[in-house]
Amino acid sequence: MGIFPKKLTRKLADREASNALRSLGEKEEKTDFYSNDYLGFARHAAIHTWASQLVAEANTTLNGATGSRLLSGNHNLYLRLEEYLDRYYGQPSLIFNSGYDANTGFFSSVPQRGDVVLYDELAHASIRDGIRMGLAKSYKFEHNDLQDLRSQILMARKRSNTLENGAVKEDHEIYVVTESVFSMDGDSPDLEEMSKLCSELNCRLVVDEAHAIGVCGENARGTAGAGKMQNDVFARILTFGKGMGAHGAAVIGPAELRLFLLNYARSFIYTTALPPHSVATVLASYHFMDSPEGQKKQWELKENIRYFREQLQDLSIAGLFIPSNSAIHCCLLPGNDRVKAVAAELQLGGFDVRPILSPTVPGGQERLRFCLHSYNTFKEIKEVLRKLATSIADHE
Ligand SMILES: Cc1ncc(COP(=O)(O)O)c(C=O)c1O
Repeated sequence: MGIFPKKLTRKLADREASNALRSLGEKEEKTDFYSNDYLGFARHAAIHTWASQLVAEANTTLNGATGSRLLSGNHNLYLRLEEYLDRYYGQPSLIFNSGYDANTGFFSSVPQRGDVVLYDELAHASIRDGIRMGLAKSYKFEHNDLQDLRSQILMARKRSNTLENGAVKEDHEIYVVTESVFSMDGDSPDLEEMSKLCSELNCRLVVDEAHAIGVCGENARGTAGAGKMQNDVFARILTFGKGMGAHGAAVIGPAELRLFLLNYARSFIYTTALPPHSVATVLASYHFMDSPEGQKKQWELKENIRYFREQLQDLSIAGLFIPSNSAIHCCLLPGNDRVKAVAAELQLGGFDVRPILSPTVPGGQERLRFCLHSYNTFKEIKEVLRKLATSIADHE
């Protein structure tokens, strides 16, 4: 027997041949235009201190949760954080170990056989993986395209709702899933219109808010809870590893959904819970976000987003970017070789900007992904974009 399966060796060779082999790099001290720590919370000393105080107040010295939340792992800090989130978002919450777990848990368990899931074609891998594990049929709709979504809903209704004798099956659900900020594009759907469409056509809208929390919406709470949408959105997936600078995730929705997930979502049931310090960090981050200093960070991020967009216009490179109001801005540079070469030049210049290669994105849509932060300076933004414009011209 060979030391490693031949089929796997061939797959690795394929990746290498398309210049897309992934590897773990060492973290270097460059100007950060790539992390998801949009507000700098992951590195904020006050949040770290508060989290430690919360652990001390909870009177626990546990380093680990000791078991699943359904067994020994449901420590008091979980209850505190869920109570806090329930008040903050106005609906019950259930905490998962990560956004990946929340999405796989939700989509593998909630949509049932006979139901349909319609997902944006650019939906995150965790949403797709969850759908794949479940029993419902699924179809994608064109990115942020409400017309296409409408016709897909109507088609799905026709396909799944009518029995052979023409009678209508009433309990076949249609779930529509999108992201309030797309992770690889930085753009957003018209959520208000989408939620209206879903309530008009009786569908259940699920919104992944991973990249909106801490960045978008009133008090940076995300965008799917605003106004009437609160009633029209069936569930929201929040993640704490990005703008909140921590780890973990929550599903927000009706009380019955919470009960259902804790009974049926396998990624909730069959895993060790988060340790007390992780949960306390999320709680500390939320407290900090609403403090004057936390609000200042939100304002600084918004200013940097505004300045970044202004610079794109001044340098006449806005046309290469996917329009975005979020902290994620992507410059399309087709071809793995080209996008890698431009990224390498920016990195040589001291800026950490990462190329997103195919197959992570479809071939021809390779891109440089800029993540903006409250702690980037105008000078850094100006310099990185100037360097980008020169490098693009050199690699025409
Ligand atoms: C849109 C989206 N949803 C979910 C996730 C997964 O979240 P987590 O990193 O907490 O597992 C990510 C992370 O990349 C994401 O971008």
